[in-house]
Amino acid sequence: MDLFEYQAKDLFAAHGVPTLPGEVAATPEQAREIAARLGGAVVVKAQVKTGGRGKAGGVKLASTPDEAQARARDILGMDIKGHTVHRVLIATASDIETEYYVSFLLDRSNRTYLAMASVEGGMEIEQLAVERPEALAKVGIDALVGVDAAKAAEIADAAGFGPDVRDQVVAILQQLWTVFTEEDATLVEVNPLVKTPDGRVVALDGKVTLDENAGFRHPGHADLVDRDAADPLEQRAKDKDLNYVKLHGAVGIIGNGAGLVMSTLDVVAYAGEEFGGVKPANFLDIGGGASAQVMADGLEIILSDPEVKSVFVNVFGGITACDAVANGIVQALDLLAGMGEPLTKPLVVRLDGNNADEGRRILAEAAHELAELVDTMDGAARRVAELAAAN
Ligand SMILES: Nc1ncnc2c1ncn2[C@@H]1O[C@H](COP(=O)(O)OP(=O)(O)OP(=O)(O)O)[C@@H](O)[C@H]1O
Ligand SMILES: [Mg+2]
Repeated sequence: MDLFEYQAKDLFAAHGVPTLPGEVAATPEQAREIAARLGGAVVVKAQVKTGGRGKAGGVKLASTPDEAQARARDILGMDIKGHTVHRVLIATASDIETEYYVSFLLDRSNRTYLAMASVEGGMEIEQLAVERPEALAKVGIDALVGVDAAKAAEIADAAGFGPDVRDQVVAILQQLWTVFTEEDATLVEVNPLVKTPDGRVVALDGKVTLDENAGFRHPGHADLVDRDAADPLEQRAKDKDLNYVKLHGAVGIIGNGAGLVMSTLDVVAYAGEEFGGVKPANFLDIGGGASAQVMADGLEIILSDPEVKSVFVNVFGGITACDAVANGIVQALDLLAGMGEPLTKPLVVRLDGNNADEGRRILAEAAHELAELVDTMDGAARRVAELAAAN
């Protein structure tokens, strides 16, 4: 999960990384109040999860609260690379003597952690890495040792931080490493880290990506989720621990195993061409040992998508055999009916693999009027696309 700058800076502050005072505003009036409270010149910064905000006009200086209100009015609602600005950060403005760059990240290709640092900040780091790779120091980090004072000094020296700021940078690198490890981040980036005219080093920007797999260790991280941005169906699916991605077609898809679901999407899209371009409505992998409850949760999410016209349940029985899945489907339909949300859209089921015959028998016996069995994946895809087109 990527964080907004203001959230990243809150984590920085909690771990002792020097930042400038600031607060987030959702309206121009709030921006004005915050600017008045902070006193002096401020920057008004668009809070969107993308870089290049400065270049897009989403970072503006304001010398008075009135100006802060006006700049906030300009920036709120702006579109930056497809992201709408819902909030702005109002932060104390600082004069900048030098801009630097530092980051910690997961280096997947080398199966380790990596520090990157440069005394030539202010430029986009991807550009720097291509045009002047020698100006970007890269230092591997042993996960068992982490970033102690010696490692931090190694990083600072590799990047060429001068004696004027070296001690501060060494301290900040260790604090940022604490953010990285204690918050279970996969990226902590400061661009720019700056030296002010009075010689202080502070983080002017912050970018943090948290590892959602470690969410169970951090109950507080749930509050950082951007509920405005999430698709409501995806949010509900997430609350039920379902692996669901909303797409924009008419055929709801449920399968077990990510690979099977991916190929189901392809097969449905291909079959749909014959019916005027019918497409899959979602990705939903209910995984191996799917219970009736999981099947019911999945069906409930898919059926509540108004774009869905028909549903394809494509299951390959493995460790969880087809008879268990078939019982799950039958129970799921009963559960939905019990919840007052009975099946109203046609359901095509294809069962294959372990105990397929018994699974098919169970479904045939249940004889739900809107559910039909098709033996092959291609045949089922064609039928479900046809039903979607007709519905
Ligand atoms: N508090 C501040 N005081 C003064 N200048 C600031 C402040 N915060 C940011 N800036 C200036 O605005 C620039 C862009 O801000 P920032 O790095 O936070 O946004 P960004 O999305 O990374 O933008 P870009 O990619 O265009 O640099 C900074 O490089 C810095 O020069
Ligand atoms: Mg930046």
